[in-house]
Amino acid sequence: MKMGNQSVISEFLLLGLPIEPELRDQFYVLFLLVYVTTILGNLLIIVLIRLDSRLHTPMYLFLSNLSFSDLCFSSVTMPNLLQNMQSQVPSIPYAGCLTQMYFFLFFGDLESFLLVAMAYDRYVAICFPLHYTAIMSPKLCLSLVVLSWVLTTAHAMLHTLLMAKLSFCADNIIPHFFCDMSALLKLACSDTRINELVIFIMGGLILVIPFLLIVMSYARIVSSILRVPSAKGIRKAFSTCGSHLSVVSLFYGTIIGLYLCPSDNNSTVKETVMAVMYTVVTPMLNPFIYSLRNRDIKGALGRVCSKWTIQLSLGQGL
Ligand SMILES: *[C@@H]1O[C@H](CO)[C@@H](O)[C@H](O)[C@H]1NC(C)=O
Repeated sequence: MKMGNQSVISEFLLLGLPIEPELRDQFYVLFLLVYVTTILGNLLIIVLIRLDSRLHTPMYLFLSNLSFSDLCFSSVTMPNLLQNMQSQVPSIPYAGCLTQMYFFLFFGDLESFLLVAMAYDRYVAICFPLHYTAIMSPKLCLSLVVLSWVLTTAHAMLHTLLMAKLSFCADNIIPHFFCDMSALLKLACSDTRINELVIFIMGGLILVIPFLLIVMSYARIVSSILRVPSAKGIRKAFSTCGSHLSVVSLFYGTIIGLYLCPSDNNSTVKETVMAVMYTVVTPMLNPFIYSLRNRDIKGALGRVCSKWTIQLSLGQGL
């Protein structure tokens, strides 16, 4: 380590969102509402799936895992963002910054792996309906979830350790609203070539492989429907895959938009807007995408509510 006599940075300043000062209060309220909605919406999905035994199927257990991951993903950045919008000196300690980066990567990757598991589940359900329960056994589901956690832990740990090896000396201002890996790399005063190489390789693997797996399972689904085209089959496929496809497009759409769109010199604003899309908007929309179009979830909500109403009125009657 070459620390020498240069001062070592103990905290970073997060510049936050590029918002005019007079609009800050409106945005604060907006983001607070979005965060509360995210927490409540995802909690509702988790609780409903837990309470209703009809939803104890692989698809809904994965969905419940996805909601948990969304809830944590937005809790990694949002409380800090809200607090910084109110404070004069939006600083974050060095260790806090690395911790935030770790969990940001962790839950972001977890989401991507869970989307693959869900795509595989739909593929088996549509292409091998008769063997579905045998293939998607509780053991396989649990293994897929555990595998996602192991892979995502390793990946997030790799980047965090590589980042911890860098030294930061002069500049500690992050022009972003959370400790983003690429923003941190720009501030480092030691050699970042290894970090960039690892980000490039792992980023490709972690994004491209899940994306290809999802595309492959949907290609199989489409080809199996086209082999015996019937209005009923198409409707069934749409109703079971529609919500999953919307979530996948939202997740990968923003990422692809971020990396493939040509960026000009003034790209900080664009990057921030895209980052708001995937850290703030996507975790909020996922539960709505699933519950608004889904008859099972709506049914479960109805059953749980009526059970509670009956218990409440019985309680009052006693
Ligand atoms: C995640 O999925 C596993 C395996 O299907 C399940 O046992 C577990 O309860 C789920 N976790 C949550 C929080 O829903």
